[in-house]
Amino acid sequence: MKLPPTARFSTVCVHAGQDPDPSTGAIITPIFQTSTYVQDELGHHKGYEYARTQNPTRAALEKNIAAIEAGNGAYAFASGMAAIGAIATLLRPGDHVVVTDNTYGGTFRFFDKVLSKYGLSFTYVDTSQLDLLRGAMRPETRMVFLESPTNPVMRLTDIAAAADIAHTGGAKVIVDNTFASPVVQRPIEMGADLVVHSTTKYLNGHSDSVGGIVIGVHDDDLEWLKFIQNTEGAILSPFDSWLVLRGTKTLALRMAQHNINGMALAEFLVGQPGVTQVLYPGLPTHPQHDLARRQMRGFGGMLSFDVGTFEKARRVCNRVKLMALAESLGGVETLICHPASMTHASVPPERRQAIGLTDSLVRISVGVEDPQDLIDDLKQALLD
Ligand SMILES: Cc1ncc(COP(=O)(O)O)c(C=O)c1O
Repeated sequence: MKLPPTARFSTVCVHAGQDPDPSTGAIITPIFQTSTYVQDELGHHKGYEYARTQNPTRAALEKNIAAIEAGNGAYAFASGMAAIGAIATLLRPGDHVVVTDNTYGGTFRFFDKVLSKYGLSFTYVDTSQLDLLRGAMRPETRMVFLESPTNPVMRLTDIAAAADIAHTGGAKVIVDNTFASPVVQRPIEMGADLVVHSTTKYLNGHSDSVGGIVIGVHDDDLEWLKFIQNTEGAILSPFDSWLVLRGTKTLALRMAQHNINGMALAEFLVGQPGVTQVLYPGLPTHPQHDLARRQMRGFGGMLSFDVGTFEKARRVCNRVKLMALAESLGGVETLICHPASMTHASVPPERRQAIGLTDSLVRISVGVEDPQDLIDDLKQALLD
């Protein structure tokens, strides 16, 4: 079994990083549940010494996802936040970072409450407006940390244009690609230096694992990330690595259905009585629909809609039957949530207001069920 260099995306998802197990021929990479490896003699081993440092299941996943994201290497961590923490170790005291203002709440909390204690400073701007990004750059800016689309207001950043601005200013570009998935966009092809994922979401896709991964292109970044993975030790476990590796095999298939279902629900919600706004990049009414068509392949499985009042938002969330009221996203089952009181509760109200995250906003992570069943569920939940 040999992956041709011309292999296309879904073939890469199924095969990259995986060879049949040499000792048995097992087609699926085994879960190497071991803490250490026996050495042949002093100074001679098979490339594996201790499982924090090297694990074959984790290594297979890292190769797989590096290929999926068009990177030169990847390192997997215990959670998406641990992966973002590893990226942060590339910074030094005095460095400045420009961040998409509507970044994931946990990322904001980490930058604001933890990293700011270590001589690092952060400026949050609406990176969908390139002039604001340009204006936020300083001589000491070392990173531009982007999310597109943002959660949950679905604002887009022109990644290639933002990368140009960052690179001109001597900063690295990091894209958290969790929300879109590499099926929908591959930021490295647009100039990103590092891509990060919470594998908890679309890459695993089955709501049964928490993990994170950083994908890089430059040798110095990759060497540092490998060093940090071993030094800090926030590694992804062999079982979680195996689960995500199983998940990525069907990534292209799942995302194709997420894209179809996302569009179907967005189109259904437009014009429903009581729905004042639908936020989905696939809708021609989305303020950045042209950019979405240029930058994204399919518009993803995430959408938000406004029902006018907090009371109505609460009613919709409580009334759905097929959809589950839960945080997280990217699984095969549809989840609904109220961002202001759930996923974004740690974001101060004035910041929520500034980014357009109202108390009447409802977010859906659309799964891969039959879209008509999801529409029927929403229809009954929206009835007055
Ligand atoms: C965009 C984004 N980045 C990072 C994270 C953090 O990932 P984890 O929960 O795996 O630590 C999340 C979690 O929801 C997220 O949505």
